[in-house]
This record gives sequence, C-alpha cells and structure tokens, in this order.
Amino acid sequence: MTVIRAPQDFNEDDLYIDLRATLGHPLFLKCEGFNFAGSVKLKAAVEMVEAAERTGALRPGSILVESSSGNLGVALSVIAASKGYRFLCVTDSRCNLSTRRLMEALGSQVQIIVEPTPDGGLLGARLDYVRALCASNDRYVWLNQYTNPQAWKAHHRTTAPAIARQFPQLDVLFVGAGTTGTLMGCARWFRAWHRPVRVVAVDSVGSVTFGGAPSRRMIPGLGTSVRPPLLDDTYVDEVIHVEEPDTVRACHRLARAGFLFGGSTGTVISGAAGWLDHHDAHQLTAVAIAPDLGVPRHAVPEQLADGPVRRRRAAARCGDRRDAGGLTMTITVERPPVIGPASIEQALSELLAEVVRVDRVPPEAFFDDLGADSLLMARFCARVRKRPDLPTVSMKDVYRHPTVAGLAAALVAALPAPVPQAPSLPARWRPSPVRVGPGPRRPRRSRPWPPCSPRSRSSTRCHPTRTSSTTSAPTRW
Ligand SMILES: Cc1ncc(COP(=O)(O)O)c(C=O)c1O
Repeated sequence: MTVIRAPQDFNEDDLYIDLRATLGHPLFLKCEGFNFAGSVKLKAAVEMVEAAERTGALRPGSILVESSSGNLGVALSVIAASKGYRFLCVTDSRCNLSTRRLMEALGSQVQIIVEPTPDGGLLGARLDYVRALCASNDRYVWLNQYTNPQAWKAHHRTTAPAIARQFPQLDVLFVGAGTTGTLMGCARWFRAWHRPVRVVAVDSVGSVTFGGAPSRRMIPGLGTSVRPPLLDDTYVDEVIHVEEPDTVRACHRLARAGFLFGGSTGTVISGAAGWLDHHDAHQLTAVAIAPDLGVPRHAVPEQLADGPVRRRRAAARCGDRRDAGGLTMTITVERPPVIGPASIEQALSELLAEVVRVDRVPPEAFFDDLGADSLLMARFCARVRKRPDLPTVSMKDVYRHPTVAGLAAALVAALPAPVPQAPSLPARWRPSPVRVGPGPRRPRRSRPWPPCSPRSRSSTRCHPTRTSSTTSAPTRW
C-alpha cells in the first residue's frame, strides 16, 4: 500500500512497457505519466520549487509564474495547490482547452497570450509578459524552466538512476528533446556510469534544437523554435529527427495495441524503431522514455473549471480594483450595449474571448486556432442569442465565416436596410388615434404582423414581405 500526504509524493518510476510484440524490436518504454500531474514534468517542477524554497526566493505569499503550454503548467498547478502558493501560468492560444481547464480547476490563473511579437513569436510574447510581471512586483517568482539547472538535475537525481536500477545491462537510451531537461539529466548521469550507454536524442523535423532548419510543426510536445539554453550536445551521442507522419503512424501502432500515447511518445518510438532497424539490435538492451500519456487523464467538469474564472470576471466587472482569485486583475468596465454595425465585430470578439477564455480575440484569428471546438462555438452562438442588440448567429454561420471579422462582415451585410421615411399622408388616411376604454365593437379582420426585428427573423409570425428576397433582410441568421 502506498499512502501519501501531498500529490507530488507519488510518482510511478518503475513502469515499463515491453514493446517487442508491438514493434518487432526489443524496446522497453518507461512510462512517466503516472503521477498526479500526468507527466515527467512533475519531477522538474518539484526540483525547481524546492530549490527556490531552499534559497528563500520562494516564500509564503510568493506568486509562482511560469511560461508553459502544458505539462509544466499542470505540474506547477498541482504543487502550488498542495503547498499553498498562487500560480499564474502564462500560455498562448495554442494551449489546449483541457489543459487550461485542468490548471484552473487546480486553482491556478491562466493568462493566454494571443499577440505574437514580431521576432520572438508567441513564445517571445509569453516571456516578455512574464518578465514585465516580475519587474512590476517582487512577489512574482519565475522558476524559468528553459534555463533552470534544477530541471535537468531532477532527472539526474531520479530518472537516470531509476532506469539503471532496472536495466543494469542498458546499451541505448532514447530521449525526446523539449527544453532538454530530461535529455541532459540522463545523458550526464549515464556519461559518468561504469558502463557505456549510447544516448540518442529524438527531435521532430522542423525543430531547431540541434541546428536543423526551422519549419512548421503541428504536433505539440517535442521540438523548439529557439535552441534550448539547457542543451549541451557534447553529452548526446546521436540525434534522430522524425517526420510528423511517422509520429502519427507510431501513435496509431501503439493505440492498436491498446496503449494510447500522444505525439511526444509517438516521436520517440518512431525514432527508436528506425534506429533499431538500422542496427543489429537483437542483443541490445534499449529503453525509451514516454514523457506523458498524451491526453489529459482528468476530464474536468465545466463548473469546476469555470468557477474561479467566472468569479474573477464578475469581480473585474464590478468596476473596482480588487484581489480576484488571489491575483490583482486589471479592471475592465462593462460597456453599454452595442447597436450599430460598427460595433458588431467588437461585440462578437468580446463574447468569443469570454467563451474561449482569453483576454482578447484578434478579429482575423481563426476560431479553430483559438481552440474553439464545436461545443465552444455552440456556447458562443448561445451567448450571442442572449444579446438582444445583436443578430442571431447559428453554427452554420460560424462554419461559413470562421473568423470574427468574417462573421461580423456577413452579419452586417445581412442587416436590414434602414426603412425609408413614409411620406406624410393626407389626414384621412392617417391611422386613427388609439381608443381608450370600450368603444363600439368592430369585426376583427386580420391580426397585424409585428415588425420584423433581427431577433424575430426566423419566426413564422414575421411579416411575409419583410423576409422576401426582394428586401435586404437576410433569409437566415
Ligand atoms: C509531452 C512532452 N513532450 C516532451 C517533453 C520534453 O521534456 P524536456 O522539456 O525535459 O525536454 C515533455 C516534458 O515534460 C513533455 O511533457
């Protein structure tokens, strides 16, 4: 039985999958995803936090801040919650929604950066934000996973010796390279071991970590667009670059055997299988490291994820400055309802920002790129419907016009033309004044149609002429 008091006290360090039957190669996969943070980053996070506590950089009342698009953010959220620190994770619009929800459910604040800097991209903008935050208030403590030596020391202390204990005859080790913390910790440790071990780094094509040409990469996890400061490639014996389709093939192969892993593990397995193909591998003892399971294991109920965020927004809307969720928010003032076409784009941007939970949505950004799946877009349409001053938006509209700018333009184009002023009528044709009190009963002839407003356009009670194709009114909203 294992009994723990803090989430970071548990980490399964001795779980390996024998992939011989799946891959046809003798390869053992070390699974690092079995802990409360779901990834190998728990080790780096614990090491960095504890070192900062020892030096006094981190103390009660400090606010941890870190730039992360995934696993480290979750790991720090777990530790911050457990130790009673506040944590602000600075990420960007590529961070997937489940990860964001997971961090928020753990009580962290997530700041999404949507505007890249011209030279440093989104990562550069994230780092600028963190630096500015730390400069503004010394309560903020940035552990900086990209440069912090504790990130590799964690693996030097735990991961490498754990592998050596289980595989005293180890010949070759395959490690994926992100910040290169895992790689450097293991490579340094095995360089000093009594037995020579070939350490093979696995990276994705398009990553610049080992000096390759940068190109577009779609699969998150491994790879960088800036050489990682932790890397010292004199410790690395070989580097393999894997194409993304090969990563996907490896993931499918594992999944067909019932082992569902994500892109990082698929990349490492694909690289390892290729290497073993080209070497006389039958007698070799080979291990690869799977940094996580690839998919968040916790489905966070929406109420749990939204709770703190809604409260913070409500606090921010109150118009006064207050500590929202522990972190002081920039106050936004509720705007009066938008009415004119010019404001539609702005109103849609704001509603979408609320739904995808970012500060601002650039009108040209694609809904997809903001992580807006169909569930979120349905919520966005529902929010638009609740605004009486906006035209109704359907999912079809969203699919046809997948940016705020496009959607707003389509809605504006479909707005009814202003009704021309009626010429003044001779007195005898003017409607009679409203009668007050009972008068002589007249036979009721027909029910008057209500005026057609954008909100009632789909209603069958709308006056037929206002929905005909001869008017500028849209037939569908
Ligand atoms: C999914 C994933 N891929 C790759 C890595 C690479 O690890 P590192 O940043 O230590 O190089 C990690 C680390 O946690 C990870 O979680």
